[in-house]
Amino acid sequence: MTDRTIGYIVGSISSTSLNRRLAKALERLAPEGTTLVEIPIKDLPFYTPDFDGGFPEAARDFKQAIDDVDGVVIVTPEYSRSIPGVLKNALDWSARPYGQMSFNGKPTAVIGTSQGGIATAAAQQHLKAILSHYNAPTLGQPEGYVQATPGLFSETGEVTNDQTADFLVAYLQAFNALIDRYAHVPVAA
Ligand SMILES: Cc1cc2nc3c(=O)[nH]c(=O)nc-3n(C[C@H](O)[C@H](O)[C@H](O)COP(=O)(O)O)c2cc1C
Repeated sequence: MTDRTIGYIVGSISSTSLNRRLAKALERLAPEGTTLVEIPIKDLPFYTPDFDGGFPEAARDFKQAIDDVDGVVIVTPEYSRSIPGVLKNALDWSARPYGQMSFNGKPTAVIGTSQGGIATAAAQQHLKAILSHYNAPTLGQPEGYVQATPGLFSETGEVTNDQTADFLVAYLQAFNALIDRYAHVPVAA
């Protein structure tokens, strides 16, 4: 397998985010040759078409960061049975200016954690619909529904449950296989 870089977006800007802990766990558990780097979204202003004539630096950096990686994992909480507004705002930036969709052809995977039993499943379905519109190939299996129990992830991403750690390794391996599959597929304009 060739070396690759996977970007991750955390769909929460909470200072105590459980999903950030999950992202850190993925970073720790990355298979050999795979590096995970964060693509930050917290400095993005609210998107408006008024910016289409000249994107601010934070938005240019955000789109460049997506261009620079081999695939993107979106690690998101569920808010009101959908994705948080901060994540939707970031996705809207990625889709503009018109004709320059950052996720076009980019391999993606979605995963998330919450204390609730459905573990962000509703949010992930909405997110997959958006990624499909962007023409982004998205990992179908395994699905990334991680129920957070107290102490499951430390702040620095240690995982206290072996089954969860094994699942996250398998999840990243499956995403690497998806990235390999699309490595030589030409991207439609
Ligand atoms: C505005 C709001 C809406 C929420 N809606 C849901 C929801 O629909 N489903 C769910 O499982 N949890 C929901 N939660 C609880 C979140 O899953 C929980 O706060 C989680 O820790 C947020 O992720 P984070 O810690 O990474 O920020 C909601 C929380 C907030 C603040």
